[in-house]
Order: sequence, then structure tokens, then C-alpha cells
Amino acid sequence: MADKTNLYTKSRLLYNRALKVLPTGVYGHLGPSNGCAIPVDAFPIFSNKAKGPYFWDVDDNKFIDYMCAYGPNILGYGDEDVDKAAIAQIRKGNCVTMPDEVLVDFAELLTDTVKKDWAFFCKNGGDVTGLAVMTARYATGRKKLVLVKGGYHGVAPWTQKVGYAGVLEEEVSNNLYVHWNDVQEFENLIKQYPGQIAAFISTPYYHPTFEDNKLPAENYWKSIRDICTKNGIVLIMDDIRCGFRLDIEGSDAHYGIKADLITFCKAIANGYSVSALCGVDSLKGAVSDVFYTGSYWLSAEPFAAGIACISKMKKENTVAKLRFIADKLHKGLKEVAQKNGREIVISGEPVMWFMRHTNDENFFMHQAWVAECVKRGIFFTNHHNQFINAALTDEDIAKTLDVADRAYKVIADKF
Ligand SMILES: Cc1ncc(COP(=O)(O)O)c(C=O)c1O
Repeated sequence: MADKTNLYTKSRLLYNRALKVLPTGVYGHLGPSNGCAIPVDAFPIFSNKAKGPYFWDVDDNKFIDYMCAYGPNILGYGDEDVDKAAIAQIRKGNCVTMPDEVLVDFAELLTDTVKKDWAFFCKNGGDVTGLAVMTARYATGRKKLVLVKGGYHGVAPWTQKVGYAGVLEEEVSNNLYVHWNDVQEFENLIKQYPGQIAAFISTPYYHPTFEDNKLPAENYWKSIRDICTKNGIVLIMDDIRCGFRLDIEGSDAHYGIKADLITFCKAIANGYSVSALCGVDSLKGAVSDVFYTGSYWLSAEPFAAGIACISKMKKENTVAKLRFIADKLHKGLKEVAQKNGREIVISGEPVMWFMRHTNDENFFMHQAWVAECVKRGIFFTNHHNQFINAALTDEDIAKTLDVADRAYKVIADKF
């Protein structure tokens, strides 16, 4: 693949058309301006089809995809069981004046799986982080939120910062920030703002871009749980990215606590558009009072897909499978790096790992290596965590390691 010149001719032509009618050509996290595709000319821009762990771009280059659509692909693209359930539901009825009974079936399965008392479905992750915050504020009668610096909870104004385009100071003036793993800072804020903090919201572990990802320190989540309980603060776990990759019961269970509210999206339906806020019984009254709805939130097709996806993940113990694949891949990547006189640093949870290289402070060597991998059909990105999906085979891992090796050799003269 890399020996072909103009690998991405059609992608570029399409992008020129896109630039005329779409802001930035491809906006958002899938676009080339998001900072994960560096250097941009090493990456395709448009896909044409996808199956299992692969996608093909519009120039018909095939990639083993370690970004998994930024999380939704957990069983493999176009999983037969999930697609079959979704297609059957579309034929039966999807967006209708009344919800289909599959809504109730999905809520029962999900709440039973993640050990919560109720579920509220929307479409995107940001829909449910927003609902979680509104619910916590209404339930407590308090305004302030404690967030972890560098955390990501979507794009609604309250998740952004003053100075970002279109964000008003008033929209973020009730946000308070702590550093990851710093329990003392949280306690200090409670003293500084007595009776004013509605919620603590955080991802299960720290997975920002551009830096090593960090797991919770021993007892971190237990301490946060205890402090929240003692002070009447709602504990919101944002499990949109990690959900179903660490523990089928949710990442709060994975780290040994029970969140009051937990958000899911991405892997919940293997790519069909549904997100969920799940919660404890004591917050069911509050969430019921929040005015919150959307044109497609009760469409039935993603619920059918979600049922098929969760059922399959349980049946096949996908969590264990993902971990097995991740460990194998990482062991191989470390060995290949070492063989080439490099050291690769892998951080975060293995199924959603972040990688960089030592002695490469500005990431230039890492970017060059990723670029050579991408040009040879291994789709990694820079500065963001990667994802494992359950369709990856031993051959895919072997191919990845072979390409990783070749990529080191290509960049050897430059770095
Ligand atoms: C932890 C976390 N929270 C919230 C979101 C927002 O989800 P969405 O982009 O579906 O609105 C994301 C998306 O990547 C996320 O990773």
C-alpha cells in the first residue's frame, strides 16, 4: 500500500468538494482538522465500507482500524447479529408516534446488566451528560459542578471553556475543577463552597489527549464515593467512552463503587445511535421532572441493536476477549519497538490504550511512525487513545506488528 503514490487521491478530491458545502470539510472528531491525523497527508479522509475490524477508504485502501469509530465498534463493524436485529426492527417500525415495546425490553436488559434502577435514552453522549447534570442540579437544588481538569464530557457549552467560540462566561461559571486522583482538592472545594456542589462528574479513569492516561489510585473511587455520599453530592460517572469495554456491569463496578448516575453511548449498540443515562432509584423522581426530549430519541432500531449487542457481549464475554487481544498486541508492540532500539510507552486501560515513545518529547518521531503505519494499512492516530474491538484476529495482530516493524525501519534515518 505505501509504495503506491497518491494513496488518497479520491479522498482528497472528495474533501475539496466537501470544503465548499461543509464547515471545515469534515467537522468534528472525524475530520482532518481535529489534530489526531498528523501529518494529515498520511491519513485518508473518507471511508467507503467497513466490516469486522477493517474499513476501506474511498481509494480502496484497507485498514485494520484501531480507532473503532472512536469507540462504537466493539464487536466488529457490521456485526451480523446486531445488524440483523436492527434491520428486522426497521422493517417492523422505527420512528413512530408511539414507542415500540422494544424500548421497555432494552431498558430492562440495560438496567439489569449495569445494576441500576432506570434508564433514559437519547442519541449522543453529550445528550446524557447534559441530562445527568440537570438531574443532579434539580435533585440537590445546587448549582456547582466539580469536574476533572482535562476531562471530556461532550461539546455543550457547560463542558467548554471561556474563550472558546460561542461559549459564555455564565455557562461555565459554576464549574469547579480538580486534578485527576486528587481527593484533597475535592474536599477543599467542598469546604470553600459549602452546600453548593450538586455533582462530581468524571470518566472512570483519566484519558486526555497528548499525555499518558492515568488509572485511579488505590481507593480513589471509594474516597470520592464516600465524600459524595457524606455531602449529598451526586456522583456522575461518564462511561461514554469506556462503557462495556472494562466491565459489562459498567465501569463503576469495574472500579468497585456504585455511581448515582452513569452515562453510556458508543459501544452500547455497536454503532447504532443510542445513548443512555442510568441511575439509582432516589434520582428517578428528579430525572422525571427534567424537560428533555428529542425527535429520534425513542426510535426503535437502535434499541433492537442495543439488545443484540449487549446480549452478545454477555454471551461471548467480550470484555475478557478485548483484554486478551489488547495484551497480546501491546506485548508485541513493545517487543517490536525494543528490537528497533525504541521504547513505546503504553498507558491507560489496555483495551483503550494511549501510546507514545520515550525520548520523543515533541511527539515528532511518534507521529512519523504512526504515519508510516497508517500508510501501510494500520489505522492508529496520534494523541488520542486507541480502541480494541472483538473482531481482531491473530493475523490482524501479526500484520500490525509486521507493519509496526517496517514503519520503524522507514523512519530510522530521520529520527
Ligand atoms: C467520556 C466522554 N463523554 C462524553 C462524550 C460525548 O459524546 P458524544 O460525542 O456522543 O456527544 C464523549 C465522546 O467522545 C466521551 O468520550
